[in-house]
Amino acid sequence: MQIFGVDIGGSGIKGAPVDLDRGDLAQERHKVLTPSPATPDGVADGVKQVVEHFGWTGPVGLTFPGVVTDGATVLTAANVDKSWVDTDARALFRERLGGLDVTVVNDADAAGVAEMAFGAGRGRRGTVILLTFGTGIGSAVFHDGVLVPNTELGHLELDGHEAEKRASSKAKEDHDLTWEQWGHRVRAYLAHVEMLFSPELFVIGGGVSRKAHKFLPYLDGVRAEIVPARLQNNAGIVGAAMRAAG
Ligand code: BGC
Repeated sequence: MQIFGVDIGGSGIKGAPVDLDRGDLAQERHKVLTPSPATPDGVADGVKQVVEHFGWTGPVGLTFPGVVTDGATVLTAANVDKSWVDTDARALFRERLGGLDVTVVNDADAAGVAEMAFGAGRGRRGTVILLTFGTGIGSAVFHDGVLVPNTELGHLELDGHEAEKRASSKAKEDHDLTWEQWGHRVRAYLAHVEMLFSPELFVIGGGVSRKAHKFLPYLDGVRAEIVPARLQNNAGIVGAAMRAAG
């Protein structure tokens, strides 16, 4: 079975039909740039371009980089235009896509769902936490494979600052940190999350998961196992489609 998945990110809106049995893209994905400012109207136009590129007319799952309740309503917008707050994103996208069946989920939750089914968390019981390091820090918390949605652990306080302001990949770039300097911040963050949740496994997602060998050596002293995500760039698209499938 196939469902269309769209990942709405800070720089790009990417989508493709997803083969749900394989947990992989059924066709090469199509990407358009995220408009700036990333307003609901502008993003909806980008989503329409991506979906129409494939002539898709079936159900669509979308990720959003903020809290999303009931597959529909956006409650926070830390790294996108503030006019998203309280937007019924499902209604907006459904209208722009000519009435297609639409589900919207938090981006990290989508990536986590895909990693648990087809990637680094496959078959893992107990508490597993996926953290995505990008413009912000996203989190997906699972216990025995069941997701606790919208956990927002990137906004925990670390050394008097919001964790994602200190330890996201954007923070690494903004503050020109070496892998070692950034790795020490990530270690302090993981130690804090570990103190609160005692997970068995951390899965590290986001673009940095491709360069895990550069920072994993600095994450010593954390008790939980730490592994890079496996689906990398496509986890959001695959997870969005899985959530839309119900
Ligand atoms: C948002 C989260 C999101 C994360 C990654 C955070 O700023 O609050 O909802 O998952 O960024 O995009």
